[in-house]
Amino acid sequence: MININEHYLKLKSSYLFADIAKRVEKFQKDNPKQEIIKLGIGDVTLPLPTACIKAMHEAVDEMAIGDSFRGYGPEQGYSFLRQAIARDDFQSRGALIEPDEIFISDGAKCDTGNIQEIFDTGIQVAVPDPVYPVYVDTNVMAGRTGMFQEGRYQGLVYLESTKDNNFIPALPDRPVDLIYLCYPNNPTGATITKDELSRWVDYARTNKALILFDAAYEAFIKDPDLPRSIYEIDGAREVAIEFRSFSKTAGFTGTRCAFTVVPKNCRAYDGQGKEVSIHGLWNRRHSTKFNGVSYPVQKAALAVYSPEGQKQVQANIDYYLANASIIRDKMQSLGFECYGGVNSPYIWIDGGKDSWSFFDDLLNKAGIVCTPGDGFGLCGQGFIRISAFNSLENVEKAMARIEKAL
Ligand code: MLT
Repeated sequence: MININEHYLKLKSSYLFADIAKRVEKFQKDNPKQEIIKLGIGDVTLPLPTACIKAMHEAVDEMAIGDSFRGYGPEQGYSFLRQAIARDDFQSRGALIEPDEIFISDGAKCDTGNIQEIFDTGIQVAVPDPVYPVYVDTNVMAGRTGMFQEGRYQGLVYLESTKDNNFIPALPDRPVDLIYLCYPNNPTGATITKDELSRWVDYARTNKALILFDAAYEAFIKDPDLPRSIYEIDGAREVAIEFRSFSKTAGFTGTRCAFTVVPKNCRAYDGQGKEVSIHGLWNRRHSTKFNGVSYPVQKAALAVYSPEGQKQVQANIDYYLANASIIRDKMQSLGFECYGGVNSPYIWIDGGKDSWSFFDDLLNKAGIVCTPGDGFGLCGQGFIRISAFNSLENVEKAMARIEKAL
């Protein structure tokens, strides 16, 4: 008899964004004439930078010729891309990361979801609340939680991120082993200072814990004093893994390219308390289960680091940040408390009512899709998230409709 992994039965019936898509589809069916503007899932709308497109075309042409054709590439990624990342994203900011500590992949969602596989099922996991659902669901699938009760999975430590703590949770009040942090934060748009991040690094060092630092939105940081990488903090190499992505930075959501940084001295422990290199284990896992990102896509990602690529990427980021500021200003002028939207593409809005009711209001009265805050956890109740990833024209139209409807 083929038995299933029963931990999957603990999961809420569907993934948040799939749930929203279903509601939107039904609304569209019932209201075929209503033009819907989607400010829900954070999906880019601007085309790929021309430097990336040019590089991708050239790489495709190379694949058409016997002499330059390439089969399987290195599972960890081509060295041309790993070198550019190490130099421009880390070493240039004083973060000492080497190219062979970078693992190229097809997405930060997959990497943040897969990484937990190399840790014991008995570890204590701490997740922020509100939280990107992937961190939670993948630990549920792995059997690290109990049942879902009253909005939370038993067995997880929830790190509450609220207005009162500026969406930077307090250190855990009991020992934890694996800590997920995400800054600039999805969904609250909050950022973290070096001092605040240092406290987490110190906690991890003292407690032999590990931080999984999701920096998928670092490109939106404009404030020069904010850290863009956890490795800008002394001592982080031993206790932190960082996830980055070209998705939001350079418009690769449909093209797929990301990377995970695992420093060689990043440590975990075996059952006897002996240190084990996480780098070695992740390399083993990655090369067993993954065959690399395609050559043309890695060439396109490399072009992000060229002078033209940098200019084009910055222009796209500025475009979305300008949208964020329009959304934030308008919602504030309508009397809502807004957070994020500066150094971040997400605006976290206190709707003053149940999140899904606010979601339904915006959809039914204005044809606007947002993301209900409680889909990210109990602390998200009462909030909605509006994403700045859309055209300026649609953002302006959406704000005018919301102003009229509310
Ligand atoms: C979001 O809207 O939270 C993100 O787009 C989801 C993702 O990157 O997977």
